[in-house]
Amino acid sequence: MPNIRRLFVVATAVLAPTICAADTTSDMPDIEHGKATFNTMCGVCHSVQKTGGPVEGPNLLGLVGREAASQADFVKYSPALQASNLTWSVETLDRFLVNPMAMVPGTLMPMLIRDDKTRADVIAYLATLKE
Ligand code: HEC
Repeated sequence: MPNIRRLFVVATAVLAPTICAADTTSDMPDIEHGKATFNTMCGVCHSVQKTGGPVEGPNLLGLVGREAASQADFVKYSPALQASNLTWSVETLDRFLVNPMAMVPGTLMPMLIRDDKTRADVIAYLATLKE
């Protein structure tokens, strides 16, 4: 019965993403919470605007996908971060931000985010910031 088989394939294709989405809703990063956290914990040192803002730390616009210590306007990178050979992704940021000094001993980045959910929210917010 080819028609029933086709119906089943279509039904699976339509329903599967719905079920998955429903299952993971509670784990979805909260970008607004990430932004609020960033503004409180990070915004004092890091700008996320094209021009202006604080210069204590490197500008983080377009961070995800960028090599570590490669923001051209920032001239105070530590030798440790420069030698780290990291490229910023959700995964590397997750490992870095839980404890920067543990991942890159000698880094000058002083702030850590211990809470897994808050860290994921901040990273999701950072990933929305395209140059
Ligand atoms: C007191 C100032 C300060 C605060 C607050 C701060 N940072 Fe930083 N951050 C720095 C400095 C300085 C560096 C450069 C570190 C180095 O060269 O080792 C840096 C580097 C970084 C980098 C690497 C950037 C690159 O171009 O490779 C990321 C990512 C980062 N910080 C994220 C954050 C986040 C997220 C927060 C908030 C949770 C935060 N920082 C809070 C000062 C700060």
